[in-house]
Parts: sequence; C-alpha cells; structure tokens
Amino acid sequence: MGKLDGKVAIITGSTSGMGRDTAYLFAKEGAKVVVTGRNEERAKAVVDQIKADGGEAIYVIADTSDLTAPQKIFDATMEAYGTVDILFNNAGKLSVTPILDLSLEEFTEVMNVNVTSAFILTKLVAPVMKEKGEGYIINTSSVAGCAAHWGPIAYCTSKHAMNGLTKAMANELGPEIHVNGIQPGAIRTAMLDSAGGEAACGFMIDRSPLKRIADGSEIASVALFLATKESSFIDGQLIRVDGGVDI
Ligand SMILES: NC(=O)c1ccc[n+]([C@@H]2O[C@H](COP(=O)([O-])OP(=O)(O)OC[C@H]3O[C@@H](n4cnc5c(N)ncnc54)[C@H](OP(=O)(O)O)[C@@H]3O)[C@@H](O)[C@H]2O)c1
Repeated sequence: MGKLDGKVAIITGSTSGMGRDTAYLFAKEGAKVVVTGRNEERAKAVVDQIKADGGEAIYVIADTSDLTAPQKIFDATMEAYGTVDILFNNAGKLSVTPILDLSLEEFTEVMNVNVTSAFILTKLVAPVMKEKGEGYIINTSSVAGCAAHWGPIAYCTSKHAMNGLTKAMANELGPEIHVNGIQPGAIRTAMLDSAGGEAACGFMIDRSPLKRIADGSEIASVALFLATKESSFIDGQLIRVDGGVDI
C-alpha cells in the first residue's frame, strides 16, 4: 500500500530535476501524477517511465510564463482524473541578470513562472480541495528566498514572494488545505548545471556541515512528507533543505 494511493497530484516543472524525481516518487507511492513543463519529449519520457514502473500519469505541455497555462493544466487534470488532492508548485526560471541590466520583460517572466502561475493554479485547485475536505499544496522557494546573497534580483524577489504566498495561502486556505514550502540549497539539476554545476558550488559546500550538494530525490522525500498526514500539524512553514548552509 502506497502513501498516496488514490490521490491525484499536479507537479509543475516535472519534466526535469527535483520535480521529475518527485513525480517518480509520488507515482511509486500510488498517486496519479500530472507532469507539466514545456518540453514534450522529456514530459513523455517521464510519463512513459512511470507507466513502465506500473504507475499512472499524464503530461500537459504548458509554458507558465503564459498566464493562461494554469487553466490548461487544471482543465487537463480534471478531464483525466476528475479531481486533485496535491499541488506541487515547483516550476522555476533562474535569472542571473543584475538589476541595471534587467529588463521589465525578463523580470515579469521570472515572476510569472515562479510566482504568479502558482497563485493562479492554487486558486483553481483550492475549491476542489476545500470541497473534498483535504488538500496539500507545496511551493518551491529557495535559499534565495532567505537572503539576497544567494541569488540575483529577479530570482531572489520571486522566491521571497513565494515565501509570502506560502504563508498567506496557508492562512487563508485552512483548515482543509495544508500549504508549506521547501527552500532548496544546491541541488544537482539542469538549473544548477546552467549556473556552472557542482564546480560553481564550492562556497555552498564549504558552508555546509554536510560538505556536499544534494540530489533531487532529497527534495522529493520532503515533498512526500508535506503531501501526507505525516506532516499533519505543519502549516505555512518554509522547510530549508540546504545542507545547513546558513546555520
Ligand atoms: N537546483 C537548485 O539548486 C535549486 C535551488 C533552489 C531552488 N530551486 C528551485 O527548484 C525548482 C525546480 O528546479 P530544478 O532545480 O529541478 O531545475 P530544472 O531541472 O531545470 O527543472 C525546472 C523545471 O521547471 C520547468 N519550467 C521552467 N520554465 C518553465 C516555464 N516557462 N513553463 C513551464 N515550466 C517551466 C522545466 O520544464 P521545461 O524545461 O520542460 O519547460 C523543468 O521541469 C525551481 O523552482 C527552482 O527555482 C532549485
């Protein structure tokens, strides 16, 4: 018996990285998983793998810089499975552009992908979860949501906003819906590779008592905890999963 038997989980940004690891874990635990992202080849590969392992999943191709994308994801979920129990707002865009070079267009795109689409998708799923009497929403923030030295302006702003969104959602969507956030440190994913990979993380490895970066599966296991009754009295919290880089 899986921890998520009979549950339907939307995981944004699950064509890659920690979202993909979470999709595999949730499916292994019995959830029907809605995989989302822009890259159809990778989305299909994730769904094929889940099905090959005996699980159930669909994919929805949606670019969340376009604010009509959340409705598309919600509609496809309801059409395929008729309900939703878990939403992992995880899709993210990294921007490393400093403020004086940052265009309004790039800033807006980062905010749309990292924050605004999560707000819209939450508004869509929350009535379903309220009606069912139970739901779990997990938001991916970052250590860049804790301090500006961890990330440049657009990314840092978006992740600080994700913290506020998490707490405000928890405050307004209880008692039926639990909302919590995860603040990853350096995790071995395509996004980290785009920023120089493990070789560029020496300062984080030095600052961590664990002296390493992490795999996406180490975020997936926390997401699973936050998506079940095992975290029943945790709400509105931002869990740092960063190897202790700021202690
Ligand atoms: N890796 C780290 O060290 C780290 C640290 C702190 C926080 N995070 C956060 O963790 C989350 C997952 O990132 P990751 O590290 O797993 O990186 P990743 O492997 O690059 O995955 C990012 C995911 O987001 C999706 N995505 C990006 N832009 C999108 C868009 N415009 N529309 C729809 N989907 C989009 C990607 O899908 P497609 O490519 O298919 O569009 C992909 O599935 C992000 O929110 C990120 O900010 C990562």
